[in-house]
Amino acid sequence: MRRPTSIAPPKGELGVLTPGMGAVSTTFMAGVELVRKGAAAPIGSMTQLGTIRLGKRTQHRSPLIREFVPLETLDNLVFGGWDIFPDTAYEAAVKAGVLEPLHLEEVKGLLGSIRPMTAAFDQAYVKRLNGTHVKHAKTKFDLAQQIKDDIQHFKKETGVQRLVMVWCGSTEVFLSPSEVHADPARFENAMKTNHPSIAPSMLYAWAAITSGVPFANGAPNLTADIPALQELAREHNVPLCGKDFKTGQTLLKTILAPGFKARMLGLRGWFSTNILGNRDGEVLDDPGSFKTKEESKLGVLEYILQPQLYPQLYDKICHKVRIHYYPPRGDNKEGWDNIDIFGWLGYPMQIKVNFLCRDSILAAPIVLDLVLFMDLAQRAGLRGIQEWLSFYFKSPMCAPQLYPEHDLFIQSMKLKNTLRWMMGEDLITHLGAEYYD
Ligand SMILES: NC(=O)c1ccc[n+]([C@@H]2O[C@H](COP(=O)([O-])OP(=O)(O)OC[C@H]3O[C@@H](n4cnc5c(N)ncnc54)[C@H](O)[C@@H]3O)[C@@H](O)[C@H]2O)c1
Repeated sequence: MRRPTSIAPPKGELGVLTPGMGAVSTTFMAGVELVRKGAAAPIGSMTQLGTIRLGKRTQHRSPLIREFVPLETLDNLVFGGWDIFPDTAYEAAVKAGVLEPLHLEEVKGLLGSIRPMTAAFDQAYVKRLNGTHVKHAKTKFDLAQQIKDDIQHFKKETGVQRLVMVWCGSTEVFLSPSEVHADPARFENAMKTNHPSIAPSMLYAWAAITSGVPFANGAPNLTADIPALQELAREHNVPLCGKDFKTGQTLLKTILAPGFKARMLGLRGWFSTNILGNRDGEVLDDPGSFKTKEESKLGVLEYILQPQLYPQLYDKICHKVRIHYYPPRGDNKEGWDNIDIFGWLGYPMQIKVNFLCRDSILAAPIVLDLVLFMDLAQRAGLRGIQEWLSFYFKSPMCAPQLYPEHDLFIQSMKLKNTLRWMMGEDLITHLGAEYYD
């Protein structure tokens, strides 16, 4: 990819559209507003808190990322979205039960004013939900056109200059890439003939891309991970990324597994189980939606550990992932991992991880970073899959001839080096002073 010669400055305001206004989306909106009011800190957000080392270590240059690259500011974000329920963002946030009433009251003004647009929805793709706040049309193509109209209407109403769309909707049933996803013409035809391989999330992605709006997918659905939409993204100069926000258990997996591999410790098995009681948990109780999530969570270890290079250490790993819907726990998920490793001479050891996490608290800063980086990418002239944003995903999208990078530390290095490259700074190789300074 050619380095951008210049990055257009962020002019006007930036609209953030989320298909799905549930726990993650409303926790993100509420959080941004609380930070804007000075009532809370954006913990977990690299764009807000992260620094980046530049040049030689002796130069002591480590600016904040948001001062190094021309990112949009939080004050200039304007929110909107779609949902199959008519609740305002405030009502949805109260139902999601992630934030304390004290925090919610503080942002009631803004969140109460955000009403979802009617959704493009089909229960065949999310079996456990049944909403009434939905669009009606003869074909999927007509629904996608209505989403495009919504985008234009939002832009006109709010006066925003640019937009980013992040899928924060429920996990859809598992779909494999097929013929109808192969190119834009076949995809369009499949929308017109209501082909079952076209899921609602794909309609949002198509509408965003063909409207010139960057699209990120926070769920594990296939959505934009198909040649047709990737070709359209390149044609329309639109950055794309996904899939599935890397938050709780998988985040820890991609922190621990690279460590085992770096020390050449072997792995026999990794059993992961979770309980969660939010709407996402209810949706994932359906085997079709769970399969989509399971595929996304399972790929991680194989790519990090590379059993083809280290068969003695990582051949035939037993990797299992379970998710149980357990309503009393709400959004406060609990994950357990039992890890069977082995060391010197093959002696076995065990590690137990018990993560009492908060799903949407971990996901919200990811939404924020993706919004700001995707907008930056577009202003820098980058288009198609943005692999440098793999850091944020369980199942990172990558070019067909490549394999996805899952190791959190390589992902973080790639992200920061991409920012250095964009701004014409030397890449950091971590070579010692003797060789490089
Ligand atoms: N840490 C996390 O919370 C986390 C991590 C990774 C991925 N995700 C994924 O992010 C997504 C959102 O998670 P959540 O906890 O906010 O779930 P949620 O159930 O609280 O919110 C999802 C919302 O999407 C709506 N929806 C479903 N289909 C829609 C459609 N076609 N159009 C518009 N709206 C639609 C639902 O009505 C619901 O309000 C899920 O797919 C989840 O798997 C979440």
